[in-house]
Amino acid sequence: MTSTIIEVEGLTKKFGQKTVVHDANFKITRGEIFGLIGQNGAGKSTLLKMIGGLMYPTSGNIHFFDRAATDYASCFERMGLLIEHPGLYPQYTAYDNLKLLAISYGLKQYKQYISELLELVGLDASNKTKVKHYSMGMKQRLGIAIALLGSPDVLILDEPINGLDPQGIAEIRELILDLNKKGLTIVISSHILEELSKVASKYAILHKGEIIEVISKDDLLLRCEERIEVVVDDVSKALPVLEQELRMKQFKVIDTHTLHIYDTHMNNQQIVKLLASHDQYVRSITNHKTSLEQYFLERTEKVGGSLD
Ligand SMILES: Nc1ncnc2c1ncn2[C@@H]1O[C@H](COP(=O)(O)OP(=O)(O)OP(=O)(O)O)[C@@H](O)[C@H]1O
Ligand SMILES: [Mg+2]
Repeated sequence: MTSTIIEVEGLTKKFGQKTVVHDANFKITRGEIFGLIGQNGAGKSTLLKMIGGLMYPTSGNIHFFDRAATDYASCFERMGLLIEHPGLYPQYTAYDNLKLLAISYGLKQYKQYISELLELVGLDASNKTKVKHYSMGMKQRLGIAIALLGSPDVLILDEPINGLDPQGIAEIRELILDLNKKGLTIVISSHILEELSKVASKYAILHKGEIIEVISKDDLLLRCEERIEVVVDDVSKALPVLEQELRMKQFKVIDTHTLHIYDTHMNNQQIVKLLASHDQYVRSITNHKTSLEQYFLERTEKVGGSLD
């Protein structure tokens, strides 16, 4: 059974006269990896800060765990955040960084717990290296361990792969998938759709402060998949002809005129010829293949203007 864990309604943030997030509406389901995709300055961090309780919205509502977020403190306790940069004490070890926080959270038997957390994110509790000498990937892992302190239900990660090398990116990706398998709902932002697509199960495209699309992974892949787009006078008449005579099986009816065909054994010439012989006029026929980045660019280019 799916249940909503976070719901935002009309969420808006203004800084002075400038609207940075405008009327955001979406739901995040328990157990999913929800990807927030947007270019630099789109408003990702601002949106995540509002969801994470680090910033008050100018207007709109957030519901957590099916409750209105009026009782903010208890809701936010169930969330772990890594937004922008992890706040680390550079002169301390990873263990000591977590220990300081564990004490401030009032955790008593933290020794074993911290060691387990470090192991979970792929760091070594006995490593005496000061955090200031850590690589960026190690700092991100520690940031995730900090976010996990207190065993949250939801983990919010703002661009966790930013600045990492390919190896570091792959390791953080594995960690995110692993944490999700253990039951955590994850909200993750990025400006690279290709990268997000390797982990996220649902996406929200944020452009100039507006959520312009919320799309499932399956639908996104379908939209980017190789296909033939046929526009005819009447799809209901063309459909049985193509099914019977060309054994068309994988297709999607878009509207009364448009059909998307995913069967790889079919080609444009065949389709036009066959339909013509059945008095079906083909208005247009095109081959279509989009990369994820192309899709993202196309979606954002269509939505011009700026928020003021
Ligand atoms: N505290 C603030 N005061 C005024 N303007 C702000 C503040 N925080 C963010 N902004 C502005 O809001 C817009 C969105 O910023 P935000 O950091 O949320 O974007 P982002 O999508 O996270 O960008 P990036 O990919 O660069 O991290 C930017 O134009 C930024 O300058
Ligand atoms: Mg940001």
